[in-house]
Amino acid sequence: MMKGKFIVFEGIDGSGKTTQLKLLGDQLQQQGLPVLYTREPGGTRIGDAIRGILLNPAHSELVPRAEALLYAAARAQHVAQVVKPALASGTIVLCDRFLDSSLAYQGFGRGMDIGLLESINEPATDGLVPDLTIILSFFTGDGIDRIKRSGRPIDRIEREAGTFHMRVGAGYLTLAQRDPGRYSIINANRSEEWVHNDIMAALEGVLGEISQRNNRA
Ligand SMILES: Nc1ncnc2c1ncn2[C@@H]1O[C@H](COP(=O)(O)OP(=O)(O)OP(=O)(O)O)[C@@H](O)[C@H]1O
Ligand SMILES: [Mg+2]
Repeated sequence: MMKGKFIVFEGIDGSGKTTQLKLLGDQLQQQGLPVLYTREPGGTRIGDAIRGILLNPAHSELVPRAEALLYAAARAQHVAQVVKPALASGTIVLCDRFLDSSLAYQGFGRGMDIGLLESINEPATDGLVPDLTIILSFFTGDGIDRIKRSGRPIDRIEREAGTFHMRVGAGYLTLAQRDPGRYSIINANRSEEWVHNDIMAALEGVLGEISQRNNRA
């Protein structure tokens, strides 16, 4: 039985995932709720090593299928070592990217078959499905511009063309249409505060359950 809640942030590079995850986490912690921040690829020692391979701009020869398998391998380690144990102990897990990143980037971005990507991710997610996925929907191009303005170096995936990021952004919306109840699509072309307020509103149902349980405990 999973006692915690699994909340995932998705969106193109620079859409504000990390910013919003921290704003949400701060607020939940102020309410006295147990929160864990984590990210994919990464979140574990093994996953961070795989992240290094994936994002290194020097690795231009990496083929899409190897790329997809590396993301899945990092995810398998992350789910087993970090996410499932945290959920079992009642923690609210705020995760920067999950399975939908693989479907959006390797599927809609690179053109790999979505069914194939779902199959290779079966052993990775091990049946774990987010309670809610927040998609930060953002006009393409500006996301990478935001990262450049921040002064952070641009990684291997971020170096892809604007049209790639556009396919990814549109792909997220297509994924959400398959199961609308599990997603909240938020317009990320606004101030951090507005986006944060919408995220809090989207989480009301999920968080209501957990605070009720905490009050009973
Ligand atoms: N609503 C916003 N308006 C303007 N700038 C923003 C907004 N949200 C975040 N930023 C800035 O844009 C940059 C990218 O934000 P952030 O790192 O949160 O995005 P991300 O989705 O996590 O990106 P990545 O995919 O690269 O991890 C940062 O410099 C951040 O300060
Ligand atoms: Mg980020």
